[in-house]
Amino acid sequence: MAAHPGDEQRRSVWLADAPRTQFPTLEQHHTVDVAVVGGGITGLTTALLLQRAGSRVAVLEAGRIGCGVTGGSTAKVTSLHNLIYARLERQFDRQAARTYAEANQIGLAQAAALAEEFAAAGDDCAFERASAFTYTCQPDRLDAIHQEVEAARRAGLPARFVDRTELPWEVSGAVEVEDQGQFDPYRYCLGLANACARDGVAIFENARVHDVEQEVEERVCRLHDRDVAVRARHVVVATLLPFLDRGGFFARTYPSRSYGIAATLDGPAPAGMYISADAPTRSVRRLPEGRGIVVVGEEHKVGQDPDTRQRYADLEAWTRSHFPVRSIDYRWSAQDYMAADGIPYIGRMPGETFQVLTATGFNKWGLSTATAAALILRDAVQNREHPWASLFDATRVDLLASARKLIEENANVAKRFIGDRLRSLASPDLDELQPGEGGIVVDHGNRVAAYRDEAGNVHACSPVCTHMGCFVQWNAAERSWDCPCHGSRFDYRGEVLQGPALHPLERKGHAPER
Ligand code: FES
Repeated sequence: MAAHPGDEQRRSVWLADAPRTQFPTLEQHHTVDVAVVGGGITGLTTALLLQRAGSRVAVLEAGRIGCGVTGGSTAKVTSLHNLIYARLERQFDRQAARTYAEANQIGLAQAAALAEEFAAAGDDCAFERASAFTYTCQPDRLDAIHQEVEAARRAGLPARFVDRTELPWEVSGAVEVEDQGQFDPYRYCLGLANACARDGVAIFENARVHDVEQEVEERVCRLHDRDVAVRARHVVVATLLPFLDRGGFFARTYPSRSYGIAATLDGPAPAGMYISADAPTRSVRRLPEGRGIVVVGEEHKVGQDPDTRQRYADLEAWTRSHFPVRSIDYRWSAQDYMAADGIPYIGRMPGETFQVLTATGFNKWGLSTATAAALILRDAVQNREHPWASLFDATRVDLLASARKLIEENANVAKRFIGDRLRSLASPDLDELQPGEGGIVVDHGNRVAAYRDEAGNVHACSPVCTHMGCFVQWNAAERSWDCPCHGSRFDYRGEVLQGPALHPLERKGHAPER
């Protein structure tokens, strides 16, 4: 299989040249008031707010700080989430839309204040104010734009209708919300981590937690590869999807993957942040100092696309046909979880005591909402009522709002569980796998998930996902095994890249060399 253009450049523009953190790993038992699992924006902001409120806090990050979904986002810090307010009014009521808008506006203000503080301490994340737009190029969708303007205004946002933008093509109309924010998300995470460290938060990297056990007054976060643990009165699980299956979030959300590119332009980049209301979704913003643009789109359910490399090709073709592109400099992909009713789950985990909290299902709008989540989680740990808590309640089962989506997604999981097994009965033989190719193949009568590297060496694992047993699928663009059921991802050797799976794919030896 020929290499696709850009195969060698798959890294996020935010992570490409940034310094990596060097926090220690956990080598001995540790006791704190609050253990935060996950070192993205939600976890670090919650840790900082709690430490400043007087708690002793530890952060446990499975990899490196800020290198997960945070480092792969467009980093728009905005309350305008495509066409959400008209939908919230229809699906819930006007009060729900108002609460959602207020939480995001206050999240934005909190992030702006922290960015300013970090810049003064030497961690500049290039935060800038800009308008956010949701636009359509289809005259027959103008009604939806007008309805969103009205609903957003009723929710308290400074929204207005415009029929001209600075984009180099005509739009039929757009919602504009002024004074929103954009920044470099990785540099912002570095600022958060450094502020946490200065304030006394204990940060541990390469510390993957695999269980949280209950012991009378304490919760114990156990690491998967070492006999060490962090004991805490409260635990906040701020991983992308909670690794504790007890909350059942894997069945109440679905995993979605998106693709991003960063391009240098021959000419100025638009100052505003744009997202299309039309399909396919395109999200555009400029890079700091106006040196180019970031374009994100091509979303699909994880593990359910036969050729992920085509996603980059389509995104690149669209960008070249809409902007004067000089060069495409970075390509990357990122994953998020979509809540069944469109509202993130924040607060106490179902089936847990008040001491185990979480935030998940950000629907790709996790920057302002993550900061709002940290405010809710801080108050929950301090046993204080929060005015937004009931809208985001992580224990809610709002069947009216989410039943159809839940049934649809779980039927899809069941279909994949059985369908992929049946399809694999017709798998080709391992010998048919070319260098650079991966797939489910037959090796000595057994079905294996195999990747043949460019040198011809075969890396073979069991195709059975260690989370709940679905068959993983080969992702050619990322050279990973992706699970179509709940979004776990494994590298070509079977090591966990992304949960909810906690354990690697079983290695299969004795694959013959070609
Ligand atoms: Fe749940 Fe694979 S992620 S079965």
